[in-house]
Amino acid sequence: VNRNAAFIKEARAFLSESQVLTDPQECSNFGSDWSRLSGAPFAVALPESTAQVAALLKLCSELKIAVVPSGGRTGLVGGAVAGKDSLVLSLARMHFIHKINTAASTVRVQAGATTQAVHEQCEPHGLIWPIELASKGSCQIGGNLATNAGGLRVIRYGMARKWVNGLQIVTAAGNIIELNRQIEKNNTGYDLIQLVVGSEGTLAVITEATLRLTTKPQASTVFFFGVDSIEQIVALLSLARSRRFPLLAFEFFSRACLRSVEKELNRASRLNVDSAFYVIVEMECALTPELELWTESLVSSKIITDGLIAHSSDERKQVWSLREGITESLSHRGGIRKYDLSLPLITIQNTILEIENRIKILKVRADVFWFGHLGDGSPHLNIVQIKESTREDFDADCDRFETDLFKILLESGGSISAEHGVGLLKKDWITYSRTPEERAWFRAIKNAFDPLGILNPGKIID
Ligand code: MLT
Ligand code: ZN
Repeated sequence: VNRNAAFIKEARAFLSESQVLTDPQECSNFGSDWSRLSGAPFAVALPESTAQVAALLKLCSELKIAVVPSGGRTGLVGGAVAGKDSLVLSLARMHFIHKINTAASTVRVQAGATTQAVHEQCEPHGLIWPIELASKGSCQIGGNLATNAGGLRVIRYGMARKWVNGLQIVTAAGNIIELNRQIEKNNTGYDLIQLVVGSEGTLAVITEATLRLTTKPQASTVFFFGVDSIEQIVALLSLARSRRFPLLAFEFFSRACLRSVEKELNRASRLNVDSAFYVIVEMECALTPELELWTESLVSSKIITDGLIAHSSDERKQVWSLREGITESLSHRGGIRKYDLSLPLITIQNTILEIENRIKILKVRADVFWFGHLGDGSPHLNIVQIKESTREDFDADCDRFETDLFKILLESGGSISAEHGVGLLKKDWITYSRTPEERAWFRAIKNAFDPLGILNPGKIID
């Protein structure tokens, strides 16, 4: 507590009143993310320059205060949740976006710029930073990189780590380091940028990034299909790929997800046939008569139960709004457990059936929702409390189920997280995805970057 008071006194010597928050409500907001966990840091610092970030980290090193770097706090695994005696270091006020470098096809941004603001800056140049997330209005570039964000376009562009050329970081000791000098090629040893990307704020604080951009697709066509089984979805994926146009997205959701979006958000599907699953396919090409014939052939060969092609931009938005509304629609319903699975496509159908079976056998009193990035082998499983179950029963049911779920994932060659990361919620299960050797390297790397262990302690590994 004395340390906390000393921090506040010393921080206020170089930061203004509004840059150090101590109000409990504000602290709790800044200390929590979109996971079910909440935090209660003793203070929030809002630096306005890299020099201020460095001064804050120096001070925290001296006082041995835990620092939780904070972006838009839209993460789902508690990576930004701040414990009692920790400081939240929010990058929100550092959101400057430099002019686009059109020759290099890059843009330099401060970590607190929102993903959407970066997209908007790129738009007039016909360029994109291709990380597409439903939370893009709130999430920030620093957070996208620190968590190696995925999203709706991974099938085409990969995850956030592919779209960064340079990184300015501040170390735990308060040193400012420019990794990679913002050049395209620098083949001189270990790739430290890629170590920091995805490290969930445990190795360094990202203050600026040089983002790699690409050209906006010339055209795209959105298809919306009804399908009867996961097996049919995988068959559809093969057929969609065989059209030989890049897939910009291949997303699915279950009937229960559609019902939830209809009920909670008042959105509607324009398909006529009620189906077990729905798939959105976005292809990087203009609509041709061949593609229309292809869609018809999918119905006649019973790969799909029903389908439509979105012709106008309103129709496209309408189709995508069903998928993008799922998370919000499920958030109104009480207890929720979110599992972000990564599975080999070849066995995905069996694994999903096995998981469903386990839910039944264990009598988990909850509704089950499947949706997500099936084209990447990355379905989200959300388990939601039902009215007939108390919160305690729901939590107990889920705790029993989790062990079995992660065992199934291990046996099927999958991972406990495809894109949401480890944070606090998946930490106890990391042994299911990483070997003892890998975990020992994790610790050695953490120790090399942050010997005092002040950066986002307790996240990923203890
Ligand atoms: C999504 O795919 O919509 C996001 O990962 C959010 C979620 O899983 O709820
Ligand atoms: Zn997702």
